[in-house]
Amino acid sequence: MDLQHRSPPGDHVGVHDLVKRYGDVAAVDSVSLGVKKGEFLALLGPSGSGKTTILMNIAGFDFPDSGRIEIDGQDVTWTPPYKRNLGMVFQRYTLFPHMSVLDNIAFPLRMRKIGRAEREERARAALKTVRLDGYGDRKPSQLSGGQQQRVAMARAVVYNPEVLLMDEPLSALDKNLREEMQIEIKHLQRELGVTVIFVTHDQTEALTMADRIAVLDHGKLQQLDTPRALYEAPASAFVAGFIGETNFWPATAANDAAPGDEVAVELEGGERATVMAADRLSRQQAVRVAIRPENLRLSADSGGCAATVNEAIYAGSVTTLLVRTKGPILRVRLTAATAASEPAAGTSLSLGWQPRHARAYAAA
Ligand SMILES: Nc1ncnc2c1ncn2[C@@H]1O[C@H](COP(=O)(O)OP(=O)(O)O)[C@@H](O)[C@H]1O
Ligand SMILES: [Mg+2]
Repeated sequence: MDLQHRSPPGDHVGVHDLVKRYGDVAAVDSVSLGVKKGEFLALLGPSGSGKTTILMNIAGFDFPDSGRIEIDGQDVTWTPPYKRNLGMVFQRYTLFPHMSVLDNIAFPLRMRKIGRAEREERARAALKTVRLDGYGDRKPSQLSGGQQQRVAMARAVVYNPEVLLMDEPLSALDKNLREEMQIEIKHLQRELGVTVIFVTHDQTEALTMADRIAVLDHGKLQQLDTPRALYEAPASAFVAGFIGETNFWPATAANDAAPGDEVAVELEGGERATVMAADRLSRQQAVRVAIRPENLRLSADSGGCAATVNEAIYAGSVTTLLVRTKGPILRVRLTAATAASEPAAGTSLSLGWQPRHARAYAAA
């Protein structure tokens, strides 16, 4: 075994240089990541970015072309699923329709040859954990979507797995229930102390739930970081655009700069501004300046970039202004507190920002 690639101590689940191809497509393209014990890690990316494939390789339902999966420092790449002690919850509830809720939950225990009395006791305890005590005798069809998904969770944790794998478990639920379940799953995870790897394409869900997020695109790991670090310091224009909302203003660097330096740029449209270099930049290099809507400030004083309000979009707690500049049309976010003074369409204003809130990425 190649020692230098083993998980660092403390990693509960390790994915090492994982490669999985389907024909010419690299579904997973040399992904490495480590998940700590008790951590909630989200795998986030657009559809087709390789999230499910990674999860299936961790579960043992799929096998890589190369690379390795480790659990507790043991190579389990070729170990069958039932020997990995993992719980799984999928998007579709996959409950057995002809079995009662309690029998559904006890099913994994039956597979493990555990006696009837203990099975029932543990299934009832699991049912209680997901706040469904009293529902054991029903059939899955007599439960709502959210309740069925809670039964699926109870079934996944009934044999005390150390790792819980979840593949878009909430995507079939409507918005309110989904948000409720996000919090419930977090509580369940803390209560059980289980390590969770949670697949989602929904960036808000990942930001809400995860301790850390692995952002994937085209089978490649783009960035692995805390929600705050991903949001405030995205490593690439892709991540900046995928996590939260971002305006991009094409520009040209006016001097050389190292990452983290302030750099002067000439913005598309001809104005100059000071921004922060997110990449190493050289003079005359084409860049994309990423600025979040909430970090743009409109004022009546001159000194910023010229801007005219095109349209205001009211959405309750926030209002979004579409603002015409000498370059692109930008989105500016006003909160309810400040939106009372929302400028009318056609108003000419000055647009500014703090340099650290405008990150210049080398244009692809
Ligand atoms: N069994 C398969 N056969 C062929 N292509 C597959 C198969 N499974 C996944 N893929 C391809 O691999 C890529 C990643 O898929 P997947 O891991 O399901 O992405 P995600 O879960 O992020 O939507 C996609 O391009 C998908 O079409
Ligand atoms: Mg998927």
